[in-house]
Amino acid sequence: MTATYPTVAFEEFSVAQQRTLVLIKPDAVRRGLVGEVLARLERKGLRIDQLRLRTMDAALSDAHYAEHVGREYYEGLKAFMTSGPLVSLVASGDEAIPVVRKLAGATDGRKAEPGTIRGDFSVSNQQNLIHASDSEESAKREIDLWFAS
Ligand code: PPS
Repeated sequence: MTATYPTVAFEEFSVAQQRTLVLIKPDAVRRGLVGEVLARLERKGLRIDQLRLRTMDAALSDAHYAEHVGREYYEGLKAFMTSGPLVSLVASGDEAIPVVRKLAGATDGRKAEPGTIRGDFSVSNQQNLIHASDSEESAKREIDLWFAS
């Protein structure tokens, strides 16, 4: 007899269902780590609701990183983020916003804990493989920006 693993989610009391915007950045695409990142999201129990490969242009970078425009690192960040294809996706599930942030690890890969995506694969503040929305407000804004059409 084949063992079965429960794939049906049963609602837990007071657990918020959230959607979050994830970018698997150009460094991850170049390094062949898209599958690794997707696998970590899926194995955690999150759903992938939408997924698309595309190259960010300057206007989308300025809109996505609106609060960072003008900071000393922004031009470098924009050059990197527009340097090649990335994967944009919407992940959903129980408290998906903080759950994905935790899977990603600290922004600076040198400081991120081993076991996190950045902690295992990045030694950079910029080439840190993944972006994940940091609040419900950001998630809504970013999902609208990336998946309006
Ligand atoms: S975070 O994860 O959004 O809370 O991080 P934050 O510190 O706010 O940084 C926002 C994005 O800017 C990038 N960043 C940098 N790039 C290059 N050099 C420096 N010093 C630097 N500091 C921050 C960082 O990779 C974050 O990208 P995202 O896509 O938001 O993860």
